[in-house]
Formats: sequence, C-alpha cells, structure tokens
Amino acid sequence: MLLAGSMAHFCLHLILLASFLFIPSTHELQAAQTQVLLRLRKHLEYPASLEIWGTYTGDFCNLSPSAHMSIKCQDNSVTELKIMGDKPVKANGFNGFAISNQTLSASFSIDSFVTTLTRLTSLRVLSLVSLGIWGPLSDKIHRLSFLEVLDLSSNFLFDFIPEKIATMVKFETLILDDNYFNGSMPDWFDSLSNLTVLSLKSNRLKGSFPSSLCRIKTLTDISLSHNELSGGLPDLSGLTGLRVLNLRENHLDSELPLMPKGVVSVLLSQNEFSGKIPRQFAELGQLQHLDLSSNHLSVVPPSALFALSNLSYLNLASNMLSGSLPDQLSCGSKLGFVDISSNKLIGRLPSCLANTSDRRVVKYDGNCLSIDSQHQQRGSYCKESSSGWKKFAAWKIVVVVAIIIGLVLVLALLAFGVLYFRRYHSRKTPEQRLLPKIMQDNSTTGISSELLANARIISQAVKLGTQTSPICRLFSIEELKEATKNFHPSTFIGEGSIGKLYKGKLENGSYVAIRSLALSKKYLIQNLKARLDLLSKLHHPNLVTLLGHCIDSSGQDGPGTHKVHLVYEYVPNGNYRAHLSDFSADKALKWSDRLAILIGVAKAVHFLHTGVIPGCFNNQLKTNNILLDEHRIPKLSDYGMSIIREEIEKPEAKGERPKSCHGRKLEDDVYNFGFILFESLVGPIAIDKGETFFLNEKASFGSQDGRKKILDPVVLTTCCQESLSIAVSITTKCISQEPSSRPSFEDVLWNLKYAAQVQATADADQKSDSAYPLGSTTPGIHSSP
Ligand SMILES: *[C@@H]1O[C@H](CO)[C@@H](O)[C@H](O)[C@H]1NC(C)=O
Ligand SMILES: *[C@@H]1O[C@H](CO)[C@@H](O)[C@H](O)[C@H]1NC(C)=O
Ligand SMILES: *[C@@H]1O[C@H](CO)[C@@H](O)[C@H](O)[C@H]1NC(C)=O
Ligand SMILES: *[C@@H]1O[C@H](CO)[C@@H](O)[C@H](O)[C@H]1NC(C)=O
Ligand SMILES: *[C@@H]1O[C@H](CO)[C@@H](O)[C@H](O)[C@H]1NC(C)=O
Repeated sequence: MLLAGSMAHFCLHLILLASFLFIPSTHELQAAQTQVLLRLRKHLEYPASLEIWGTYTGDFCNLSPSAHMSIKCQDNSVTELKIMGDKPVKANGFNGFAISNQTLSASFSIDSFVTTLTRLTSLRVLSLVSLGIWGPLSDKIHRLSFLEVLDLSSNFLFDFIPEKIATMVKFETLILDDNYFNGSMPDWFDSLSNLTVLSLKSNRLKGSFPSSLCRIKTLTDISLSHNELSGGLPDLSGLTGLRVLNLRENHLDSELPLMPKGVVSVLLSQNEFSGKIPRQFAELGQLQHLDLSSNHLSVVPPSALFALSNLSYLNLASNMLSGSLPDQLSCGSKLGFVDISSNKLIGRLPSCLANTSDRRVVKYDGNCLSIDSQHQQRGSYCKESSSGWKKFAAWKIVVVVAIIIGLVLVLALLAFGVLYFRRYHSRKTPEQRLLPKIMQDNSTTGISSELLANARIISQAVKLGTQTSPICRLFSIEELKEATKNFHPSTFIGEGSIGKLYKGKLENGSYVAIRSLALSKKYLIQNLKARLDLLSKLHHPNLVTLLGHCIDSSGQDGPGTHKVHLVYEYVPNGNYRAHLSDFSADKALKWSDRLAILIGVAKAVHFLHTGVIPGCFNNQLKTNNILLDEHRIPKLSDYGMSIIREEIEKPEAKGERPKSCHGRKLEDDVYNFGFILFESLVGPIAIDKGETFFLNEKASFGSQDGRKKILDPVVLTTCCQESLSIAVSITTKCISQEPSSRPSFEDVLWNLKYAAQVQATADADQKSDSAYPLGSTTPGIHSSP
C-alpha cells in the first residue's frame, strides 16, 4: 500500500518534471523574437500602449490583448502584431521633419525601425497606427514576404510608396490612410493577385487612377479618396467582386466609366467628371449609395436610376444637370435621400420626389423647377447654360470678352477695396468673410457626411470578415458567451439608459460592447426584429455602430422570457464628461477641441432627426453618452433606444406611445443638447442639477464679466470672444423653457460650425502675429482648480 502510494507520487513528479521541460520548448516565443519586440518598443519611443511590455516577464504570446496592442503567435514566432498609439492624426505644417510631441523624435530612423521589424519573419498581420512614425517608407518592408494585412494609417510617412511592395504577393489588405505620401500613385498592383482591400485615403498621391487594379478580380474595396489623382477612369466593369469605390475629393475628369455589376457604394463626389451619367448606372441592382455631387455632369440623369430597388442614397447635387425629369418618374422603395439641388433642372418636380412626407428626404433648391419656392433660380439661368456657348455668334464673343474685361476691372477694384477695408477692420472681417461660405457649405453638403460613414463601416465590416453582409449581422448566443466569458462580472462595464453593458472580445480579436436587455413575455419577436432592423440602418461616423444582435430565447431567467443582446463597436477612450474634468496639461480639451466634438455630436443628432426614416428623436443626450475614440472623434451612444425601449420597459403603456420614435418631441434633444453645450462651457455639472445651476447662473452667463466667473478656465484661456458669444447665445436658446422658441438642430449645427470657423481664424491670426499673450498651442492651464 505504502509502496504503491510513493510510486504514484514519484510518477506525478516525473510527469511534472517532464511537462516543465517540455512546455517551454514548444509554446514559448523564441528569445530572439522577444528581443525584437523590445527593440521595436524602443524605436517607437516607449508608447503608452506598450507600457506593459516593460514589466511583463512571461511569454509575450500570452499577453492579454487590449484595444491598443495585440500579439498572436504560431510555432514560436509572432504572426500578428497590432499597436495603436495616441499620436494626433494630422500635425500642422508637417514638412518631412520631426515635430516635437506630434511625430516620433528627430532621432527616429525609419530605416532601422523597418529593418528591426523584418526580423519578425513570420508576420502575417501588421498594424501600426497613430504612432508618429515619420519618414519615407523603407523598401526593406518587402522582406516580410508572408504579410497578408498591412495597416500603417495615421502616421507621417511620405514620398513614394516603395515599388518592392509589388513582390508581397500574399497581400490581402493594404491600408496606408492618413499619411503624407506625395509621390505618384503606384501602378504595379498586377502581382498582388489576392488583394481585396486597397485603402490609400487622405494622402497627396499624384498621377492617374492605377489601371493595373482593373485586373485584380479579388478586390472588394478601393478607397483612394482625398488625394491629387487626375485624368479619367478606366472601364471598371471587370471588377466583379468590387463593393466599395471611394474616389471622392480628387481631380478626376472625363466621362464616368462603366461600373461593376455588384457594386454597393460609389462615391465620386468633388471631382471634375463631365458628360452624362451612363445608362449602365441604372442597371446596378446592388447599388445602395451613389454620390456624384460637386462634379460637372450634364444632361438629364437616367430616370431608371431613381427606381433602383436597393438604392437608398442618391446625391447628384452641384452639377450641371439640365432638362426636366419625367413627371411619372418612379422612385425605388428604399430611396430615402435624394439631393438634386444646385443644378439646372427645369420643368415640374416629379411626384415621387414632391409628395414625400416623412418617407423620403429630397433636396432640390437652386434649380429652375416650376414650383412654389423662393429657392429656385430664374428660368434664364438654366436656359443659358444648356444652350451652351456654341450659339454665340462671333460678334457676341467680342461683347462677352469686353464684359469680362470690365468685370475683371471691377473685381480688381473690389479686391483693393476689401483689402483696404480689412486693414482698418481686421477684427471684424473674419465673420463677414466666413458667413456666405458656411451658408454655401451648409446647403450643398448637408447630410452627405453619413456617406463617408457608410464607406467606413463597410470597410470595417470587411475587416471583421463579414464581406457579404456588411451592414448588420446575427450573432449566436454561444459566440457572445464566449466573448464575455459567459457574461462574467469582470466583463460588466455599466448600466446604459436601458440594459446592462458588457465588454466582449470576438473570436477574431476585435472588441465589442454588448447591451443585454430582458424582454417581457408579451413581447413579439417579429415586432422586435423589425425595430432592430431600423436601428441597424443608423450609420454615421459620430454614432457608435451597431454591428449586430442576438435574440436569446433559451429562457434561462424563467419560462417564456427572452433576452436581446445588441452588439456595438467598442469605443476605447472614455466619455466626454470624464474628458471635461481632466485638467492635465496634455489632456485638457481646448475650446476648439470642444467645438469639434460638439459639431460631431450635432451632426449625428441632425442625422438621427432627418437622415433616416422615420426620424429618430429623444436620444438620451448627455455628456456621458458621448464616447471619444482614440482620435477624439465623438461617437454618440444610447441613441435610438426609444425605438425598442417602449415595449421592453413598459409593455402595458404600449397603447399610449407612438409605434416608433417618430412621434417624440424634437425639442427634447435640442433642450438636452443645450446642457451638453452648457457643460462644455462651464465644465461638468452634477447629474440632474443642470437646470437649477443654469437658472441660478443665467444672469452671469449673459454678461462678459459674469462669464469670467463661471466659465471653465481652460475655455477662457483658449477661446476668442466672438466664438464664445456665438456659443453662449445658441446655448441659451436651446435651454429656453418655451419649446417653440428653441432653435432647430440645423440652426444649432450651423452656429457651431460658424463658431468653430471664427475660432480657427482667430487661432491662425494669433499664430501669425505671435504678439498675442497666450500661445494657441499651450492652453493656460495654470489657473485651473
Ligand atoms: C514629398 O514631401 C517631402 C517633404 O515635404 C519633400 O521633401 C519631397 O520632395 C516630396 N516628394 C515629392 C515627390 O513631391
Ligand atoms: C491566394 O489565396 C489563395 C486562397 O486563400 C491561396 O491558396 C493562394 O496561395 C494565395 N495566393 C498567393 C499568391 O499567396
Ligand atoms: C438588392 O440587394 C439584395 C441583397 O444584396 C439582393 O439579393 C438583390 O438581388 C438586390 N436587388 C437587385 C434588383 O439586384
Ligand atoms: C401629389 O400631390 C399632388 C397635390 O399635392 C396631387 O395632385 C398628386 O396626385 C400627388 N401624387 C401622388 C403620386 O400622390
Ligand atoms: C512637449 O514636449 C516637450 C519636450 O520637447 C515637453 O517638455 C512638453 O511637456 C510637451 N508638451 C506636451 C503638451 O506634451
């Protein structure tokens, strides 16, 4: 007995010993690779997201991933490395040299950084975002020959994109957005036969659209917006897999090419395309978003375009479209937004665009349509240009030339006058100069920002691996349990306006926020699904994206109960309220930062009110429902809950409430937004005390001296008086006790943009004449409590 016992003991020891010897050699990262990682950290000048590497003594492959850092390994080698820093997206005046606090220091060498990087020879996924990496991208990067995904967005890379990248034939995703690449657009993509996503947005790439892309059948997403591309586009109809084509804000010209059959988003606004819109566009059955605004397109658009069954967003504004649309034009059932404003259309507005009520937003100002509206041009404005210059006889040209010379003289005189006037009234002119510009921006672009959003969401969805159904997906309860360790308390992150919030990590490594709600027994699943569908259509860059949902009917909380889980993108950087209370020198939000955040939120709310059908009101606007991402882009959470709240919380009150959020009072959001404005000015106020506080301080808020007492010192030291006055006045109007005297959200947005432009002009002036006492880049924080 005793012998058997000690024998067993011995065996156990042996097993333990064996496993001890065995495990390190198969699972632990090679020491050399660990050294490389530590060296990279040094190159990157010890970013906050890698702080843990300094103290961690275990195997780096086992480091639990965060939103800012993750490592994956296979066979002792690193195969996936993702690091996200906190450097700003764009610096002012980057000219190829280090800028302190914005890029890595002057001693950073991109060449030795890339050399170190290439020692991680098994890398398949590499993402280094917002790390301040600067310099021309070294062509040694091609040594990472197994690389499938490369994302170097939001750094300071410039010059040419190295040609040797063409040898990296395993590439599936190449993203170099928001850098300073200023060479010519590469055209050596032929060899990258597996490429699906190519995104080079917001650089300064010159030259023409790379025609080698037309031969890569795997491409789903081409985003080259905001570069300096010129020339025409080749026939793209061979790209059978293409879903997203985003070439906004370039200088592309000539006629529009044929598009691939399966394309979902075509964004070509702010280019110089001319000629007519091809008939083939009206055969793109999958098309959902078409933005051709701000080009030089002419003639009347094909009628069948409006009838496309999947099209929901059609923007043809600011072109030279002429002629009249047929009165019996039919509109597709999903068409929710149409903008044909600022063209030269004549005749009647077709009834499917005129009788819109709440199902469709239509903009048609600035044409010569025969309708009762003061926003139409006179008939001659449209006729003149449609008949063209050709009809002028030679003598008329002489007259025209004479008139032009006259005009030039008058303009020169005017310009001289304006300059003279500016000299003498330099503090006042910015407002006057800016005013018409903003008005114009407002009327022509309006809602179109959600387009960008859609493009972004689609590409994010592509990254999540849901290429075929980019909009909203169904999650299984098993998947969500796995992501949250069975809704473990450690993953609980708080109570939302309704339901509990959990942080989860999906199998592919991305983080999500999950809102879990219990449903009453009486609740109709069918009804709920329709509402969730509506909610999932709300896509905007300033809304926390709903990625999908899961309805759990397993009834664990008692017979007949259901749970619904809403899966959102995870926004890592805390809420606006917390940021407002942060006075540390590098984190305090300057007035211009606050305005940028407020404008983002106002855009999102304006979109909720007018950009979706039915409009969505009462969105729980509070400073702690505004989340900020790593670039301080605000994202509104808890919006649209009134869509599903009604039956979840108070099923008995069903009869009294409207069927969707549509009937709720618009004023609720304006009023609540007023308090967000107020807190942006005076700092956070105790929850539910806003109204009392405002009433008490209203008098001091009205006078310049009073403001000095109650305004947040950070605001006082970083704002100019004009900008502040605009903000104060719109705040007071929003918080008006009388709902009918509150402004519309469009007004609010307009005023905020105006305040921001005035502030930007003042900041620029201040920088140029540095005599100003307060540096505009370093807010005077000394006076903060
Ligand atoms: C790109 O920009 C850098 C830095 O501003 C400059 O030195 C370089 O000459 C530019 N290259 C090209 C091709 O324009
Ligand atoms: C492209 O992808 C396919 C399927 O994933 C793979 O079999 C093939 O080897 C890849 N091609 C290259 C050049 O890596
Ligand atoms: C509209 O889109 C759906 C889903 O992508 C697709 O199944 C359908 O065929 C499209 N409609 C047309 C007319 O192509
Ligand atoms: C649109 O409204 C006008 C009058 O407002 C009416 O005459 C016309 O029949 C309506 N058309 C449709 C398609 O409802
Ligand atoms: C900027 O960098 C300097 C050193 O170059 C440092 O002293 C200063 O605190 C930094 N400022 C901020 C706001 O980070």
